[in-house]
Amino acid sequence: MTLDASTLAITGGTVVNSDWSGPATVLVSDGKVQQLVQPDNSLPAGIDNVIDARGKLVLPGGVDPHCHVATTIGEFTTLDDYQSVSKAALYGGTTTIIDFAIPLPGESPLEAVRRRRKMADESRCSTALHGCVVEWDETVPLQLRQMAELGIRTVKLFTTYRDEIMADADTVLKVLETLAQLDGLAYVHAESDYLIRDAQAKRAESKHISAADHALTRPELAEVAAVSDVLAMTETAKASVYFVHQTNTAAVALVQEARRRGVRAYTESCPHYLLLDDGLYDESRPDRFVCCPPLRARGQVDGMRELAHRGMLHTLGSDHCCFSLAQKKEHAHDVRVMPNGMPGVETRLPVLFSKLVVDEALPLERFVALVAANPAKLNGIYPQKGIIAPGADADIVVFDPAKRKMLADASVLHMESDYTPYEGRLVQGWPEVVLSGGVVVIDGDDFYDPGPTGLRLNAKPFGHSLVC
Ligand code: URP
Ligand code: ZN
Ligand code: ZN
Repeated sequence: MTLDASTLAITGGTVVNSDWSGPATVLVSDGKVQQLVQPDNSLPAGIDNVIDARGKLVLPGGVDPHCHVATTIGEFTTLDDYQSVSKAALYGGTTTIIDFAIPLPGESPLEAVRRRRKMADESRCSTALHGCVVEWDETVPLQLRQMAELGIRTVKLFTTYRDEIMADADTVLKVLETLAQLDGLAYVHAESDYLIRDAQAKRAESKHISAADHALTRPELAEVAAVSDVLAMTETAKASVYFVHQTNTAAVALVQEARRRGVRAYTESCPHYLLLDDGLYDESRPDRFVCCPPLRARGQVDGMRELAHRGMLHTLGSDHCCFSLAQKKEHAHDVRVMPNGMPGVETRLPVLFSKLVVDEALPLERFVALVAANPAKLNGIYPQKGIIAPGADADIVVFDPAKRKMLADASVLHMESDYTPYEGRLVQGWPEVVLSGGVVVIDGDDFYDPGPTGLRLNAKPFGHSLVC
């Protein structure tokens, strides 16, 4: 067999897909995976570059389904842009990032998509977008149809953040109904706003509304109530729903129950809800850990990991929000005005691998399902992404399962934030070589900038059965 010019072979490693793993040589050319061959076969003629992956795992590039880039929340804007966030993503083994086109005040959902798409042209890795509807009007169905024609079939709805980006219940239901006709998928941030408002008002009265009080201002019941409500709407609309950043076992159980009734419903969680607990709000810089929903008690954190092991979480996204310590601190006396969210696009794969695979023996295939294959499926971009197989984009991570790295502080990472929530943590497992579209972009500590080659991905229709 002769391959085209600029071909590459990854030899000696263990290829891990979500449904199979084993020793294989991966042949790459024209930006695509061409073939997987037996490890002892001799290499075909025309290979320009051989990557020695002995002792390493060869993983499909991570797909981060939940990544906020240069996003304004309240009066704060996250610090990165597509160039810097994609570089950090690649360093962490993520080769596709999916951001949200959240309309600015006065902007339509479609205008937000067009604006974000331009920004995403600067990306160094593949990108896709979720649309977002804040307020229903008679133009929304056509806009959602036009988005679907542009390859955007996932649409974000927030049931909280009133007076900013919250969609009311009528809007949520109507968008679900429209997406059902378009074979789309609603991405829902589910927290009951009125329960949060009530909790916040009471705590403000007693002057307990600072970052240290964050967990109590957004109770688990607010999440459970909203999940239950949105599931009822989804069932009524015969639609499909994906709950972003679920934090507690009761909320996940509702999704599981709905799935047993035949509802197409999915759970995303995030590394921080599987590793970090609300005790951090009692420590010296609680503002660093303010995210919505908040970190939960240790029992929930361990319970969520248990659910990951039992196959009840479908994806793990970063919910990356690149704020600085100064931004976090400025209004830390009042969680209602301070910026929420934490940096995490770069650390997602390594911290999850270290905890779930190294410490807790999660099968490698399940790890790949959670960080790459399922996010690709739930964004309509599988098998272009999320698998190492002939015809797939050659987004590949040669991952060293033995490499230990101390996350001493943000200086060992590449995100624009000056802190990491995992500071002081020793992790095992780190990407060594990363290919994006068949090109080596990370080799050890070195970044080979491919330029603004970010590929925009188009979502395929989701159909009427569960995709994972
Ligand atoms: O705290 C978070 N998660 N901030 C980002 C916006 C969102 O709700 O995902
Ligand atoms: Zn959210
Ligand atoms: Zn988010």
